[in-house]
Amino acid sequence: MPRIVRPTSYGSPDVLAVFDQPMPHAAADGVVVRVRAAGVNPIDWKIYSGAFHKVDDSHKDAAGVAASMPSIGLECAGVVTEVGAGVTGVRVGDEVIVYPVTAAYADYVTAPATSILAKPSGLGWAEAGSLMLTGTTAVHALHAAGVGRGDTVLIHGGSGGVGLMAVQLAVAAGAKVIATAAERNHSLVREMGAVPIEYGPGLADRVRAAAPDGIDAAIDLAGTDEALDVSLELVADRARIASITGSPRRATAGIKLLGYGPGQDAGTEIRAAARAQLVESAGSGALRVIVDVMLPLDEAAKAHKIGHGKLVLIP
Ligand SMILES: NC(=O)c1ccc[n+]([C@@H]2O[C@H](COP(=O)([O-])OP(=O)(O)OC[C@H]3O[C@@H](n4cnc5c(N)ncnc54)[C@H](OP(=O)(O)O)[C@@H]3O)[C@@H](O)[C@H]2O)c1
Repeated sequence: MPRIVRPTSYGSPDVLAVFDQPMPHAAADGVVVRVRAAGVNPIDWKIYSGAFHKVDDSHKDAAGVAASMPSIGLECAGVVTEVGAGVTGVRVGDEVIVYPVTAAYADYVTAPATSILAKPSGLGWAEAGSLMLTGTTAVHALHAAGVGRGDTVLIHGGSGGVGLMAVQLAVAAGAKVIATAAERNHSLVREMGAVPIEYGPGLADRVRAAAPDGIDAAIDLAGTDEALDVSLELVADRARIASITGSPRRATAGIKLLGYGPGQDAGTEIRAAARAQLVESAGSGALRVIVDVMLPLDEAAKAHKIGHGKLVLIP
């Protein structure tokens, strides 16, 4: 039987369990994909940690899963196994990237055909399965902050999944990039074309030293008070500060808030339009997808306990 990983209730990664599920079938406008790699993103564990919201999870079904619990896994790559009657241009056997999707922590996913992009043959499964969520978010963030040729941009969290995408895309757009990261990640950030600096006390002074002509825009991927404070201190125009994380202080700071929470800009069109270009760039090798750890599907809980670096589940 095909497997799926689901949270059984809110809590730590220990609430994740592997279940059998019936073989799914394609809707008229959709496909079924045999998953070869499912990208792991922080939102996956935030969904069941209760960080966003929590509903009553006391009523369990026969399998022990709270009826209200969402499935997890928002991106993957794999091979098409079934095509809906109304779908054209997709065939069984096609190697595809699937984004957006829900319930990608599984052997098989169903998705609307609009979520399918052809996987470039030169792109590995793990990279293809973890390109989209970070890539589209990075495109949106750079767009929101208006980053382009000649700008000097500060990226907080430049060594993370979204950060490494944002660094590469900003460099490709002709910007000078200063990116914060832990010291152990500096060589990677430098390899991507940015000037790495450590976050922590004294950050504003280190940024000034690295960018004596000033900072035009800032991208906050870290979510710390420090990232917000340093951005507000160094960037004159608050409309050129974009954050993909939320906090009460950010909500009233006059900066751009991106994402799916209250008051945030989901950037639906920008993100959708970015997908094809990201696939092309990753396929040609112009955009690198860094994967740190690959784990079997049934070790999803272990992946979430690791909690940092780019992780991919292999069913
Ligand atoms: N709004 C949206 O649409 C959206 C989309 C995607 C992600 N997100 C959110 O954005 C955040 C980043 O996502 P991600 O996938 O890039 O996560 P990630 O891969 O876990 O990266 C986290 C980044 O934060 C850095 N970091 C850790 N502690 C820090 C500190 N004290 N100060 C400054 N930086 C610190 C890490 O640097 P080191 O590893 O070098 O320490 C790393 O660069 C997450 O909270 C995620 O949920 C939002």
